[in-house]
Amino acid sequence: MDQGFRFLCPREARKLILVVGITAALLLVFQYCEFPSSTILVSVFAAVNNSSLLFGQSPVLVNDLNSSNASSSRETDVVISEVSNDSGRFVGGSESKGKEGSHGGLSNISSVSAINGSSNLVLPLPPSASPPQTAPSNKTVLVDTKVGSPVDFVDLNTSPVRKDGAKSGEISGLQLSNSSVSERGSSITKRPALKRLPFKRAPSKVIPLSQMKVLLQQSHASSSSVKPRWPSDVDQELLFAKAQIQNAPDALDDTRIYAPIYRNISMFKRSYELMESMLKVYVYQDGEKPIFHQPILDGIYSSEGWFMKHMEASKKFVTKDPKKAHLFYFPFSSRLLEETLYVRHSHSRNNLIEYMKNYVNMMAAKYPFWNRTDGTDHFLAACHDWAPAETRGRILKSIRALCNADIDAGFSIGKDVSLPETYVHSAQNPTKYLGGNPPSQRPVLAFFAGNLHGYVRPLLLEYWENKDPDMKIYGPMPNAKGKPNYFELMKSSKFCICPKGHEVNSPRIVEAIFYDCVPVIISDNYVPPFFEVLNWESFAVIVPEKDIPNLKNILLSISGEKYVEMHKRVKKVQEHFLWHTKPVKYDLFHMILHSVWYNRIFQMKPA
Ligand SMILES: *[C@@H]1O[C@H](CO)[C@@H](O)[C@H](O)[C@H]1NC(C)=O
Ligand SMILES: *[C@@H]1O[C@H](CO)[C@@H](O)[C@H](O)[C@H]1NC(C)=O
Ligand SMILES: *[C@@H]1O[C@H](CO)[C@@H](O)[C@H](O)[C@H]1NC(C)=O
Ligand SMILES: *[C@@H]1O[C@H](CO)[C@@H](O)[C@H](O)[C@H]1NC(C)=O
Ligand SMILES: *[C@@H]1O[C@H](CO)[C@@H](O)[C@H](O)[C@H]1NC(C)=O
Repeated sequence: MDQGFRFLCPREARKLILVVGITAALLLVFQYCEFPSSTILVSVFAAVNNSSLLFGQSPVLVNDLNSSNASSSRETDVVISEVSNDSGRFVGGSESKGKEGSHGGLSNISSVSAINGSSNLVLPLPPSASPPQTAPSNKTVLVDTKVGSPVDFVDLNTSPVRKDGAKSGEISGLQLSNSSVSERGSSITKRPALKRLPFKRAPSKVIPLSQMKVLLQQSHASSSSVKPRWPSDVDQELLFAKAQIQNAPDALDDTRIYAPIYRNISMFKRSYELMESMLKVYVYQDGEKPIFHQPILDGIYSSEGWFMKHMEASKKFVTKDPKKAHLFYFPFSSRLLEETLYVRHSHSRNNLIEYMKNYVNMMAAKYPFWNRTDGTDHFLAACHDWAPAETRGRILKSIRALCNADIDAGFSIGKDVSLPETYVHSAQNPTKYLGGNPPSQRPVLAFFAGNLHGYVRPLLLEYWENKDPDMKIYGPMPNAKGKPNYFELMKSSKFCICPKGHEVNSPRIVEAIFYDCVPVIISDNYVPPFFEVLNWESFAVIVPEKDIPNLKNILLSISGEKYVEMHKRVKKVQEHFLWHTKPVKYDLFHMILHSVWYNRIFQMKPA
């Protein structure tokens, strides 16, 4: 027996264990990467409860991933530990829902009453704990009715590989074809189901930056906001601030901030001062975790989390007295909305949209504040790709700070705020590794590396990958030892190319600024962050998508002298794009709040 066991053990048993282990692990990776991450929890439980499912699936998976070698099992270890971390957070959030209605907010929302622990099990939508789909033919394309163009329903942004800070600066989980690029992505990429469908195409009408400026001026000049249903002292205060800003004293000789990076430094400075001395924000306590009041501070959607954390904790700006409030904040997380309510395989985010509509309808019925201004003094900050869709209908009236600041997705210049997408690697120390080389030590002209999301990046690579030694344009970057890595290249390139991905926004823009690299934005109809106050052309290069073939000439046409000045400006604007564990003057938290305040002020119509 003992002998037999020992005989069996090294060979058969180990092999068996390996196969079973890899299979289970791959199943997890497979599901977790393909679909929004919350749903993994359910599928894991389903798989555990129903082991026949697990084993029933395994041959398929093993066949599909015929290279289940040592590196892939190491990789799955990594991902599994992330899965459990994530699940832990998710379970915590779900548990708190046991006390439904304890915040008084959500107990009456139809879709919420359906949430029970694992939302996808009880939502009145197709159950998600069914066997994982492997056949690509089962997929359909979610059509975004507003945009009118098909968008891919698989939101890769929530894939664990992207969250974990893949060294390429973005996700290396999903490469289009070549699977050997990174260890981490190696097995994942072989899944046939992950072949991407065609999705967003180039916009039919391109609005150049110059026209965006005109739209901003028109919006702010028209004072389009509805007249309050009944007067309040705060209206007079906002009108006072507006007059002050319009007649701002000259601030050109201010040494603390650097004039060239602003549209109008005098107006910005005055507005910022007034915000600090006047602004009061009422934070709605309604809304339950995890969708409300639960900030996530790392990953690519973290700006909504950081803003929420600092806003809710702010002694300076928060008022408990709604009569004193100039603005009303919904402490909502678009990432957790998706993680909690999106039903895997449902190919529909209608329930997410419905949920937000219900929430706002409830707030409007419960409190008089929304009705007074039709929501125009309400705001939220949301970084998930789907946030523009989730904030349709009535919420459109409010000021939406969105990472996906896409004119074609309904972003309204002068009202909505372009929220920077920041990829925070360390929530304890968000400014770790800040900075890069001076201009003289930036030998590389242009650098890009990343996955080929969307339609622009494949074009970029088509024209520039391996074409020119000055143009370091890659797909997902290998993390080979001895080769300069992603961050080293950002710190030693003159220009960092920031093409759009699936959506107009990309964490690269802030990343470039973070490493003192002049950003080159290639994303038609993207409204860059803090467009109200920043003069983007002074420190960034905006290249229309159609000019990709001409990219090198465009960059070479910038003289050395001008480059040095642009580099200096990037360093000056940097403070506006940094998170700090405690907010500091002019940081990202204050800049977001400032843009909301600024846009609100310029909607005010004199009585
Ligand atoms: C929600 O509350 C309102 C009034 O408080 C009530 O009329 C309505 O029936 C409730 N809806 C649900 C689904 O409980
Ligand atoms: C919700 O979960 C609790 C405990 O897990 C269970 O007792 C209850 O029946 C569930 N309700 C629904 C509607 O599923
Ligand atoms: C993937 O890329 C490597 C080098 O980066 C290359 O050797 C290999 O042939 C490529 N494989 C495919 C399938 O393109
Ligand atoms: C900036 O705004 C102030 C106040 O509205 C105005 O007087 C000044 O001319 C503006 N400066 C520029 C450069 O537009
Ligand atoms: C706000 O207005 C809506 C109709 O527009 C009404 O149903 C609701 O009761 C009002 N809310 C409050 C708190 O008065």
